Amino acid sequence: MRAIVVRNFGATPELADVPVPETGAGMVRVQLEAAGVNPFDQRMATGFLDGKMPHDFPMILGVDGAGIVSAVGPGTSRFAVGDRVVGKFLTSPAGHGSFAEYAVLPETGALARIPDGVPTGAAAALPTAGVTAQDMVDATKIEPGQTVLVIGATGGVGSFLVQLANMAGAHVIATARGDAADQMTRLGAAETVDYTRGPVGAQVAAAHPDGVDVLFDVVSPPETLAELTGLVRDGGTVYSTIGAADEAALRVRGIKGGNIESSGGAPELSRLLRRVAEGDVVVPIAVTVPLAEAASVIGAAGARGKTVLAI
Ligand SMILES: NC(=O)c1ccc[n+]([C@@H]2O[C@H](COP(=O)([O-])OP(=O)(O)OC[C@H]3O[C@@H](n4cnc5c(N)ncnc54)[C@H](OP(=O)(O)O)[C@@H]3O)[C@@H](O)[C@H]2O)c1
Repeated sequence: MRAIVVRNFGATPELADVPVPETGAGMVRVQLEAAGVNPFDQRMATGFLDGKMPHDFPMILGVDGAGIVSAVGPGTSRFAVGDRVVGKFLTSPAGHGSFAEYAVLPETGALARIPDGVPTGAAAALPTAGVTAQDMVDATKIEPGQTVLVIGATGGVGSFLVQLANMAGAHVIATARGDAADQMTRLGAAETVDYTRGPVGAQVAAAHPDGVDVLFDVVSPPETLAELTGLVRDGGTVYSTIGAADEAALRVRGIKGGNIESSGGAPELSRLLRRVAEGDVVVPIAVTVPLAEAASVIGAAGARGKTVLAI
C-alpha cells in the first residue's frame, strides 16, 4: 500500500510502498479515504516521542484518519466491515499512522462512527484539533457573557476554539492577520486582533481595561504567555496547548487551568461529530492535497483552519 513515511527521526517524509497491516484480535482495519494534518505529525517525525514509546521504521506518519472499516479481527464486536469511521491512529509501537491506504486500531481505541451528513474528509479533520478545543472549552466551564481571548485562532485548534467558545455564550476575541479576520468573524469571533500590527496584550488591554476571563493560547512561548496572563482577571482561566503555562504562578493569582494534554477519546470524538452533524460546528478545511504531496504540508506554517490529505 502507499504510505507517507520517514526512514529515521529527522528524515524528510516520502511516499513509500509498505505492507498492508494485519488485523489482530480486537483490531479494526480501516481503508482510509482522508487524513488530517497536525503540527504533531512533524514533531513525531523528528523524534518527539523517542524514549516515550517504541517506534517502528519506516515510520508511517499521521494520527487523524477517516475511512471505511475493511476488516475486523477475532473477538471484535463494536465495529463491522463497511462502517464509516474516524479515529486517532496512534498506538504503541508508533509508526503505523493514518497517512496510508490502511491503518489498524484496537476497537476500544479513539475510533468512532461518522454520522450521516458529515463528509469523510471533514471527519478526518476533527480528532486532534477539534477534540482538543472541545476539551479546553469543557474544562473551562465558560459562562455566557464572559470574554475569551484566543491566541493562534486561525489554525486548527483555534478555529474550533472560536466556534465552541462562541457557542458557550462567550464574547470571543480572536488573533488573526488582516486577511484572516473575516474568517474569524464568520466562525463566531466578536472581535479580531491583528498580532502583526503590535503586541496583542497592549491591543486587548486598550479595548478591555478590565481584562478578560479566559485565555486560550496555542502558540505563545512561556515569557509571552506570562505577559498575556496579565490580561486575565483573578479567578479566570488560562490554558496553553504547548506546555508554556507556569501553573504555580497561575495558582498564586487564583487562575485555573494550565497546560493541557488532550485526553479526548471515542466518546468525546462522537460528541463533536454529533455537533458537526447537527450543523452547530463547522469544519474549516483550508486545503486538501493528495497523499503523495503530504511532504509539502507536513510542518507547514501559516495554517488557515485544517489541512487534509485525500487518500
Ligand atoms: N496539548 C495538546 O493536547 C495539543 C493538541 C493539539 C495541538 N497542540 C499544539 O497546539 C499548537 C497549535 O496547533 P494547531 O493544530 O492549531 O496548529 P496550526 O493549525 O498550525 O495553527 C497555529 C496558528 O497560529 C497562528 N499563529 C502563529 N503565530 C502566531 C502568533 N504569534 N500570534 C497569533 N497567532 C499565531 C498561525 O497562523 P499565522 O502564522 O498565519 O498567523 C496558525 O494559524 C501546536 O503546537 C500543536 O502541536 C497540542
